[in-house]
Amino acid sequence: MTPTVQTRDLSRLFPTGGELFAAIDKVTFVLNPGEFTAIMGPSGSGKSTFMNVIGCLDRATSGTYLLEGTNVANLNSNQIADLRRAKLGFIFQQYNLLPRTSALENAELPMVYAGVSAGERRKRARRALIDVGLDERHHRSMPSELSGGQQQRVAIARALVNAPSLILADEPTGALDSKTSHDLMELFLHLNRERGMTILMVTHELDIALYAQRIVSFLDGRIVKDEPVPRAGVATAGTR
Ligand SMILES: Nc1ncnc2c1ncn2[C@@H]1O[C@H](COP(=O)(O)OP(=O)(O)O)[C@@H](O)[C@H]1O
Ligand SMILES: [Mg+2]
Repeated sequence: MTPTVQTRDLSRLFPTGGELFAAIDKVTFVLNPGEFTAIMGPSGSGKSTFMNVIGCLDRATSGTYLLEGTNVANLNSNQIADLRRAKLGFIFQQYNLLPRTSALENAELPMVYAGVSAGERRKRARRALIDVGLDERHHRSMPSELSGGQQQRVAIARALVNAPSLILADEPTGALDSKTSHDLMELFLHLNRERGMTILMVTHELDIALYAQRIVSFLDGRIVKDEPVPRAGVATAGTR
């Protein structure tokens, strides 16, 4: 089985005041297909930098990164853009939806770039929005007319429409209240268990991380803990 993500001694250095600072420091990490893994760690520990490299939004300074067996260091920027479109779905804390653009059109966007026909786009976007639990009466709403939880559902639909191999979610519940956060994690669980989605999610909240099957802890750019979650997804039930 080819891992979805495989890094070896991956580092990302930034120049700071004449010196090089390792935001990620020789990280070796494997994520297999079907896994739902959470990344935790204090602010500044390198979580977003790691996600950006895994998401091919940034390049490592040294070490290797294979995305489904492809060494991204060997690709040019067009090939990386294609790879990102074909294989990755992104979910961010701030949703990053286009304003003054309907839920349907937002969900269609990745398919526009992928060259899918208009009719097929509409059909797939509608299905994705229903899949993530956005009622049809909201499909033509603008982001400003939707709650935070609904906007994040649109962003998840947008991440799913091209059937990615990997969902990358950086603090997906960071801007949401506790009840809405848990509802969204139920959706993540569903996508992972019923749809087989592979998910890598950053969170600083333990009760959110406990939905995952595995928690990887970052500190100072390094992985300092990597543990399975006993009874993932139900571990939080008693605390709700
Ligand atoms: N573009 C950059 N230039 C310089 N330093 C950066 C840059 N991006 C991140 N860093 C630094 O790398 C460290 C890790 O940042 P980040 O990955 O955003 O942490 P986290 O997401 O865990 O809060 C921080 O000290 C941050 O200041
Ligand atoms: Mg961050």
